[in-house]
Amino acid sequence: MDIKAIIQKLYDTNDASREELLYLLDNIDDDSKKFLIDKAYKTRYKYFKNTVFIRGLIEISSYCKKDCLYCGLRRSNKNAERYRLDTEDIIECAKRGDKLGYKTIVLQGGEDAFYTDEKMIEIIKVIKKELPTSALTLSIGERSYDSYKKLYEAGADRFLLRHESATKSLYESIHNNESFEERRRCLRDLKEIGFQAGAGFMVGLPNQTNEDLVNDLRFVKELEPAMCGIGPFIPHKYTPLRDCSAGTTEKTVILLAITRLLLPKVLLPATTALASIDSNGRNEGLRAGANVIMPNLSPMSVRKKYSLYNNKAFILDEDAEYRNSIEEKLKEAGFELVVSRGDNPDFV
Ligand code: 5AD
Ligand code: SF4
Repeated sequence: MDIKAIIQKLYDTNDASREELLYLLDNIDDDSKKFLIDKAYKTRYKYFKNTVFIRGLIEISSYCKKDCLYCGLRRSNKNAERYRLDTEDIIECAKRGDKLGYKTIVLQGGEDAFYTDEKMIEIIKVIKKELPTSALTLSIGERSYDSYKKLYEAGADRFLLRHESATKSLYESIHNNESFEERRRCLRDLKEIGFQAGAGFMVGLPNQTNEDLVNDLRFVKELEPAMCGIGPFIPHKYTPLRDCSAGTTEKTVILLAITRLLLPKVLLPATTALASIDSNGRNEGLRAGANVIMPNLSPMSVRKKYSLYNNKAFILDEDAEYRNSIEEKLKEAGFELVVSRGDNPDFV
């Protein structure tokens, strides 16, 4: 097999077989990596030019009933500082974000039973009433079809639920035997209900192989999510994976680029995790096909408590308040920040 021919095929057809993707991941070198990133950038440019969409991220709760082995918010972490924001806190943050030019608000939290359907519907309705032209994204974990449907009908537009890993054995090994099928059921339901749904996975998980990453790539190709969050695994000191090594910028960037080629119109964030392991991570992600950033809008008082992994970027670039500085830096790197909802082109 010829590695550049595989990349060219990905560029021309937005598809490649399992064998081709595996060959690409196993054999990529500096020269072919440049070729890949160039093709991914050209593909992004075709649909999005050099624009970057911004989302204001509000971390609504650090309580979680799940026990994912990699995450600092897992319920077994007795050192985690727990908080939850009430409706008023959330609305205030969302309005502050709107004034700063964030026309998508993302509410993210652990799986916290406090946020019942009724509570979420109340929050969604107030945000939609106050900010009728903004998009509202939820990222609050696994729920029933009926629950998702109610949240959609209340006005939520998008839902992020990373599949985390498309290999059943790897998924189960890092999720305390939570159901792999149930996670996928959620994603299918979200899509069917009409949400712009976001899947995604971590790169560099302990024992993750290139075969596993090929499973992730084929899974997202087949699911065709509107969004896909890809970031490096980063160990957290109060989790069982504390001594494992983190994913790398290089590998994450390669996966972003291949994902852009497989799903040319996908909304692809240069994630905070990527920015956290590498001060140039955001720009490298954007150059490899990413087109979204999600700076933090949470109240200052809770930021350190929302600790999924260690060394999370608290740098200005990840702080929504510094919008002008973010815009300036993007401009220096050749990108243009746009103030809009930033929908997936297939949903406009
Ligand atoms: N390293 C990297 N990403 C993590 N996430 C959770 N814990 C970690 C970690 N230690 C990611 C998961 C989750 C998203 C909100 O954050 O993929 O879906
Ligand atoms: Fe909870 Fe999400 Fe962390 Fe898992 S990754 S423990 S579901 S906050």
